[in-house]
Amino acid sequence: MTLPINPILPIIQNAGEPQGHKPHVRKLGIEDRFWHVPPLKRPSSVISEANTAEQTFIFPGWQNALCFGNDNPVHVEYCSGNGAWIIDKAMASPHINYVAVEMENTRVYKIWRKTKRLKLSNLLVVNAEAFNLTRLYFPQDSISEIFINFPDPWPKRRHAKYRLIQPAFVAELARILKQHGRMTFVTDDAPYAFQVIKEFRRHPAFASLHPDPFYVNDMHAYGTSYFDDLWRQKGKVIHYIQFEKIG
Ligand SMILES: C[S@@+](CC[C@H](N)C(=O)[O-])C[C@H]1O[C@@H](n2cnc3c(N)ncnc32)[C@H](O)[C@@H]1O
Repeated sequence: MTLPINPILPIIQNAGEPQGHKPHVRKLGIEDRFWHVPPLKRPSSVISEANTAEQTFIFPGWQNALCFGNDNPVHVEYCSGNGAWIIDKAMASPHINYVAVEMENTRVYKIWRKTKRLKLSNLLVVNAEAFNLTRLYFPQDSISEIFINFPDPWPKRRHAKYRLIQPAFVAELARILKQHGRMTFVTDDAPYAFQVIKEFRRHPAFASLHPDPFYVNDMHAYGTSYFDDLWRQKGKVIHYIQFEKIG
């Protein structure tokens, strides 16, 4: 089974290119429950800066047949790893649409292969970097729930700038979530947990679902993942943080 990255799809508009010349754009298509978004050459570039393939790709919308073909609620998991958590969820809840976002190719391929084997039509696998994917393509007020399970903690203080949760990403999550939509963040890393709580409490669109200290150490029936199992076996304490979009 190979990943479907070849077809030129009708949704791709490439107005600036001469006819018959289609560089890059084929990789942006959504095909067979797989969506590949190549890394931006300049991560800080904004959509209007250059006539890039990113600019000419038009996201067709969750209800489009290329995505889900229905208007069921959409739940996104960022940093899906090998996909254990989201595959269980997609199997258990066929009336919810799931989006697995993972930037590492081999893990993406593993998730996609499992969705094919299990014939899961409610799981879209996206090979992309979370922040750029979100800001460039995800429509506002379109996501019901967001999950981030055990993202890389970057424990050294000087590396904290590489963590996924930063003010600009929190603002993006506020933009894409529907009113009363929820964000759940799970980590074994206490300093990262405290940073996440600080960033979400600071944003006016979010309110914590848990009272001070704004996390719980257990959530019934939340599900498990590769890293959840690993850290529990090592006796680590897990932090579950949940915020709701209130404004
Ligand atoms: C520690 S693993 C956790 C995997 C899985 N959630 C679990 O609990 O087993 C973190 C994953 O996040 C992915 N990742 C890290 N930064 C990312 C980003 N900015 N966008 C998308 N994926 C990212 C990594 O490739 C890795 O697979």
